[in-house]
Amino acid sequence: MNRHYRKTIIAGNWKMNKTASETVAFAAELRKLLPEGLKSEIVLCMPALNVTTAQKAFKGTKVNVGVETMHYQAKGAFTGELAPAMLTDLGVKYVIIGHSERRQYYNETDQSVNRKVRAALDTGLIPIVCVGESLAQREMGVTSELLAYQVMSALSGVSARELRRVVIAYEPIWAIGTGKTATSEQAQEACEGIRALLRKKYDARAARAVSILYGGSMNAKNAAELLAMPDIDGGLIGGASLIPADFATILEASRQEA
Ligand code: PGA
Repeated sequence: MNRHYRKTIIAGNWKMNKTASETVAFAAELRKLLPEGLKSEIVLCMPALNVTTAQKAFKGTKVNVGVETMHYQAKGAFTGELAPAMLTDLGVKYVIIGHSERRQYYNETDQSVNRKVRAALDTGLIPIVCVGESLAQREMGVTSELLAYQVMSALSGVSARELRRVVIAYEPIWAIGTGKTATSEQAQEACEGIRALLRKKYDARAARAVSILYGGSMNAKNAAELLAMPDIDGGLIGGASLIPADFATILEASRQEA
């Protein structure tokens, strides 16, 4: 983390978990545990259906309620989809784009990720863009090339000025939901590599202002070590974000001395 240059962001990804009632119960619990005076940005991305309920339940706290995907079109005949303006109209600020589960099960491609990033920026949303390699790709030794391709495609047509409103999440697929966390060195190496890429595509100033998160079995126990790495500016947390006490511990681990 380096909050002199960029924001520390702790974001939950609830995936397809929690009903509206469970969301209210979670909020009541987390409210009691939210660390005081924390400068980190707190985000909980959840099923869009429960956004309004969650916003009410978290009213008066620093918790931002975000969503897990959206369409890139402004409106139209796309049954079941969410338009960007539907999100901003509700006061939503953060949207996860290109999560590996969306890439794997819902045909999300590098092209659609790029269109969604563009749509998010054009609508005033902050995209949390997910990139990451599979175990096979890591073992073949192509991780950095793959990350470069995913990041460059996602940011095609994005200016240095717009880059300030983009968050990148490095999520190795083999670490998601498996309990197998990347070592802090592996995670740092990937995040540092992504920042170096941004330096090359944009410039040093633009690159150092981007928050790069790590995701993949981050939990209450390993968060502090991961967050201590210089290029890891926060976490995108699945399983552990469903448990108020664990999420609160991760929030506390993101505290930085002035
Ligand atoms: P996990 O999920 O923390 O449960 O591994 C992370 C994610 O998919 O964003």
